[in-house]
Amino acid sequence: MNKKIVFSGIQPSGDLHIGNYIGAVRQWAAGQNDGLNIFCVVDMHAITVPQDPKTLAQKTREITAILLASGIDTEKSLLFVQSHNPDHANLGWVLNNYLSMGQLNRMTQYKEKSEGKEFVSVGLFDYPALMASDILLYDTTEVPVGDDQKQHVELARDVAERFNSKYGETFVLPESKIPKVGGRVMSLCDPTKKMSKSDPNPNGAIGLLEDPKSARKKIMSAVTDSGSEVKMDWVNKPGISNLLEIYSQLSGKEYVGGNNYGEFKTAVADVVEKFLIDFQKKYNEVLQSGKLDEVLKEGAQKSYALSHPKLLEVYKKVGFLV
Ligand code: TYM
Repeated sequence: MNKKIVFSGIQPSGDLHIGNYIGAVRQWAAGQNDGLNIFCVVDMHAITVPQDPKTLAQKTREITAILLASGIDTEKSLLFVQSHNPDHANLGWVLNNYLSMGQLNRMTQYKEKSEGKEFVSVGLFDYPALMASDILLYDTTEVPVGDDQKQHVELARDVAERFNSKYGETFVLPESKIPKVGGRVMSLCDPTKKMSKSDPNPNGAIGLLEDPKSARKKIMSAVTDSGSEVKMDWVNKPGISNLLEIYSQLSGKEYVGGNNYGEFKTAVADVVEKFLIDFQKKYNEVLQSGKLDEVLKEGAQKSYALSHPKLLEVYKKVGFLV
């Protein structure tokens, strides 16, 4: 069996919300005690849709600090920014040539993000090639992500298989790892849609750095379902089920209160408020430690040392002079 190698990424765009935390980041921190664990702030993916340069730079630092505050430990894991390691873009370019337009056209995220837009960049279309490169450069075996990224990880497998069958064993085939609970935290305004950074309605998502009091209000006004029973039932009670999941994931325990929506929401609001207060305390400690630049510099060097032999192997196989 291959050694466990974990890779995952997160975009420094928009505000990170409790869905990203529950669905992805928390799992990363929980899994870092064995194998090789690599986490990447994917700024090159972020520019596939328009970004304000100042904000992007600021968010890249912010997300790095959020990952550290979430328990990513650089003694155990590798943490770096995608654009700091040129191998990602370089392998992405090669992989482009082993993916078809038809395959990329079927990507749900591309369809969602491009729908109704006047300007759709080639980068947005090609996004999964760069993501495949991120994953394949490190012989990744596991990719812990939320449910919405599963299709992209499958595409990374496909392109790896195509390349391997043409040039011989080169890439390890990765598997996505989606949490059984919390892989899809839903919007508080519309529990049939996932909680999203790009949702134009700010009440749908709770940001990790948001004022805990404002988060409280969002929970209290979250859309619930008809009836009065507080129980898990995603089909008939998506609103209540989503809140139950947020409650259990952020508190580590099941809700045992009665069937009163008002009381239940107050209990969820308490849990969310407390979680945010504790989280933000850790976040501020990370910022005050002044270690971000050092962490990122070291991460860039270490990631390049790991990825570069793989890039050279690929270059050689396709016939580049190395
Ligand atoms: P991104 O930045 O959109 O989201 C980061 C992670 O959060 C998960 N997530 C959610 N989980 C549960 N409920 C939600 N409502 C929710 N919203 C988002 C996402 O599934 C993701 O795991 N393409 C990736 C970034 C990426 C990547 C990679 C991931 C680039 N290269 C290589 C893995 C491996 C993305 O846009 O994630």
